Amino acid sequence: PRKWDVCVVGAGLSGGVIAERYATLRKQSVLIVEKRRHIAGNCYDFLDDQTGLRLNLYGPHNFHTKLTNVWDYVKRFGRWAHYYHKKLAWSEGRFVPFPLNTETLNTIYDQHLMGANETAAFLAKIAEPCGPGGCSNSEQQSVASVGRAAYNQFYRGYTLKQWGVDPSQLDALVTGRISVRSDFDNRYFTDRYQSQPRDGYTRWMAGILSDPLIDLVLGVDWFDVQQRLAGRCGKLIFTGPIDHYFADSGLPKLTYRSLRFEKLAVLNIGEHGYYQPGTSVNYPEMAVPFTRSTEYKHYPGQPRSNHTVVVRETSGADGEPYYPVPNPRNHALYAKYKALADKEALKGVHFVGRLANYKYFNMDQAIDNALRIFDGLDRDSAPGRPPVK
Ligand code: FDA
Repeated sequence: PRKWDVCVVGAGLSGGVIAERYATLRKQSVLIVEKRRHIAGNCYDFLDDQTGLRLNLYGPHNFHTKLTNVWDYVKRFGRWAHYYHKKLAWSEGRFVPFPLNTETLNTIYDQHLMGANETAAFLAKIAEPCGPGGCSNSEQQSVASVGRAAYNQFYRGYTLKQWGVDPSQLDALVTGRISVRSDFDNRYFTDRYQSQPRDGYTRWMAGILSDPLIDLVLGVDWFDVQQRLAGRCGKLIFTGPIDHYFADSGLPKLTYRSLRFEKLAVLNIGEHGYYQPGTSVNYPEMAVPFTRSTEYKHYPGQPRSNHTVVVRETSGADGEPYYPVPNPRNHALYAKYKALADKEALKGVHFVGRLANYKYFNMDQAIDNALRIFDGLDRDSAPGRPPVK
């Protein structure tokens, strides 16, 4: 029977990048087994039948990075269109820039601040600093950063809806990821490189997987074929959920937050017609059932369409595993899984990517991580070891 030097579970970014490296740099054969019926993992996008617009199936994806090596890598597999992502928050009947910047603060606190020094001094005045031990949860972290009123208006409801728990019960790093600006910069990210693949993520990902040494099987769960493939993979790169791999270990499951997407098509609005003022709007108020609304027509590289689509998101505990829930129980549990994974590495099984590491990775971090892991594994391979055939 056929053998491969490397078998990869998952055709997302992590699996795709590792596969590409082994095939193009090491000239090794790779088999990718993907349980979904498409490539590109959570970055997958497609053309909507009803409107002709390109939508992401698993939520909007905005590429941004400060890493030149990652930017140089991604450009090799397709054309990219410059795009600064901007987000608005809808609160008390108006749209304001989010993350909070000087304009947002002026609007909600009725100020006339100008420049970084004034804004920083104002933020210092309204903030309630954390104690000497630092901020121990998301409520403390955000009140220390933007003050109580802005916390109540923009953070509390959104976090409750998104995570299903009060911010006081969540790790400080959850809201700590949200920046606050002391100027009028309304870009959501400040990284140097910000762009979208002109023909969509799926087409771009097809470029990554195009080497003839890569075999791809879609719609097949690894756990259904692993017995059949026993002894036929030189090494195994696993990018699925780590607790699925160790399902027989007796350890409890890690918990995730999932999302539900509701599509609202607005037909015949005109080629230049839009539903909302920007790509992405946050809805922090509890009275609004959804958390975020995305209008894909604002993205560059979209096909021309006489229609538009907004996709609204609500969060829940069930469904596709999207966001790891950072709390002490999961941190401790993941450490146990990680110990099992470290032992598995001795058998040539390596855990790569956001699900296998139980860690939120932005796309650039996932790519950088995969590139680094490939370099490490490549260095460790005995020189001259003949590829398995
Ligand atoms: P990913 O989940 O993409 O791929 C893993 C693959 O393994 C999946 O295709 C899965 O089906 C497959 N698999 C799992 N178990 C299997 C099994 N047993 N057998 C076979 N296949 C199996 N990042 C960013 O930079 N900007 C952004 O705007 C966003 N936006 C965003 C929105 C939402 C809602 C989420 C959840 C995430 C983002 N991201 C993001 C993060 C981005 O999605 C993430 O960096 C990549 O998906 C990581 O790629 P991976 O390959 O690690 O996982």
